[in-house]
Amino acid sequence: MTNKVTPALLKKMKKSGEPIVALTCYDAPTSSLLEEAGIDVALVGDSLGNVKLGYENTLPVTLWDIRHHTQAAKRRNSRALLVADMPYLSYETDPREAARNAGMLVKEGGAEAVKLEGGQAMLPTIRAILKANVPVMGHLGLTPQSLHRLGGYTVQGRGRQDARRLFEDAKHLERVGVFALVLECIPKELGRRITKALSIPTIGIGAGPSCDGQILVIDDMLGLSTGPAPKFLKRYAALRTLALKAILHYQQDVKKHRYPSIEHSY
Ligand code: KIV
Repeated sequence: MTNKVTPALLKKMKKSGEPIVALTCYDAPTSSLLEEAGIDVALVGDSLGNVKLGYENTLPVTLWDIRHHTQAAKRRNSRALLVADMPYLSYETDPREAARNAGMLVKEGGAEAVKLEGGQAMLPTIRAILKANVPVMGHLGLTPQSLHRLGGYTVQGRGRQDARRLFEDAKHLERVGVFALVLECIPKELGRRITKALSIPTIGIGAGPSCDGQILVIDDMLGLSTGPAPKFLKRYAALRTLALKAILHYQQDVKKHRYPSIEHSY
């Protein structure tokens, strides 16, 4: 297994054609699993809101939520690059405030980089965060924090004009200095074109096989989350079904006086 993952290492991986493997991570036990597996990037995503905090979308997630879960993830993983998502309204209104908030996620949360959503409008914000010496990961395509403006969780960049805008945004983000770019829910051909045009790595989620890396929400790929699955999602386990079975088994054991038995008693 290679050493500590850094933004520079991710760039080298792109150059050598080695796929980058990323997953979201919100707690210490999951973080230790990612460490053991040798996952390259652990993202404390604001998907935390949907999959762990029971919100309908990512908008209510706070900076303190992200700090709290980044601290937990940090405690059990020293190899992966630990990226903290900047939640809604922690960076959009003022670049100086954004830099302070990003710095706080590093200083108090233990993050090694932050991720934020948006294209050209975010350039001054990204510059300010970089000036505070915090590496920034970009996020284009379906940006869940713009849910109400986008009108839903739909594939982005389908029309020519939209595709051109996304392509231009990607070039601007690279130029301003983001070290990697998440591409979410865009046609695979656009994912391929953007990946080919950039020297920084792209990390896709529903952006096709040509991206330099892939990311999934861990609860989704482990089959822990409920609700409809997007087309790009591959479930690698059915942990919710397994957990429910175990809980029902325990319930029956207690009801029928089978637990605790002698072997589980002092
Ligand atoms: O919050 C998140 O989980 C994300 C990934 C979908 C990239 O931003």
